[in-house]
Amino acid sequence: MVDKGFASDNISGVHPQILKAINEANMGHVDAYGEDQYTISALKKLKEAFGNDTEAFFVFNGTGANVLALASIVSSLNSIICSNLAHLNLDECAAPENFIGCKLIPVQNEAGKLTVKNIKPYIYGFGDPHHAQPKVISITQSTELGTVYSDHEVKAIADLAHDNQMFIHMDGARLSNAAVSLGKSLKEISFDLGVDILTFGGTKNGLMFGEVVIFSNQDLAKNFHYLRKQGMQLSSKMRFISAQYNALFEHNLWYQSARHANKMAKLLESKVSLLDGINVTRKVQANAVFVTLPGEIISLLQKEYPFYIWDESINEVRWMCSFDTTEEDISSFVNSLSKALSSAY
Ligand SMILES: Cc1ncc(COP(=O)(O)O)c(C=O)c1O
Repeated sequence: MVDKGFASDNISGVHPQILKAINEANMGHVDAYGEDQYTISALKKLKEAFGNDTEAFFVFNGTGANVLALASIVSSLNSIICSNLAHLNLDECAAPENFIGCKLIPVQNEAGKLTVKNIKPYIYGFGDPHHAQPKVISITQSTELGTVYSDHEVKAIADLAHDNQMFIHMDGARLSNAAVSLGKSLKEISFDLGVDILTFGGTKNGLMFGEVVIFSNQDLAKNFHYLRKQGMQLSSKMRFISAQYNALFEHNLWYQSARHANKMAKLLESKVSLLDGINVTRKVQANAVFVTLPGEIISLLQKEYPFYIWDESINEVRWMCSFDTTEEDISSFVNSLSKALSSAY
């Protein structure tokens, strides 16, 4: 087994600059629960990045960020529309249903994305007591399939939500990868397009832990202080989350790390596309590469490199690149893949 694989951007370690920032924050005693200078400074940076009217709150993880963000704007009477592949729908152990207690409506995706056409049939029943009241459309940027919504696509969904007095939530666990891919700022691809609530991820982009829930305005954010505590996501030693976000913004590290991960995914795509027996199945727009390959080599390859099978029925697997993936990692992986392929034919 090699020491680096392609299973997820979660399996990579912590970026050295982030680790350094954590270490530097480990000095003396400071106020707890976000009253410290590290947090004040990080929140200022988030306002600079996302807009002066926005309100940001640090939490521990992405599931907590999504669930609490949504809990703050819906009640049990409501429904949340999301893609059938949404992390929210498939990978949060029904936390939204359990903790929010409302209905999720999974809608057929197109290349990992929601579309206005596919959402529209589910926006009905307003005022009907027999029907859960649609309140939020949740999209993931970049998507669970490593694709990226264009500005136009996000704007169209935001307009649809707002025309129906609904909100748009963006799961930005990999927002940085999407921004790099689109060549735009984090704000330009979120709040400027009408997003109401964003969960902005750091863990997949080199942090040890820590995500942020960001509201487009103070009014929307008004309950979150209480909900975060009630939802068990208020960190007492918040300085260690905030210090990581300071480092992420200070050196444009969010951009450098995401750009590198995306670049490595493109490199991986270009190399494996040349191999007989490998078919790239999704557009590579962020840091994920999806391929189909002969079934018999999957477990062989997994013995050396950890990665996940995405769709067993067609032998489709997912390979993710991280801030620390190197060209050498990719060459060695492609070598092993070529060898496995030639043993299969
Ligand atoms: C799209 C997406 N959203 C949110 C998350 C957050 O997950 P966690 O609760 O593991 O931090 C993930 C993690 O894999 C993800 O891929």
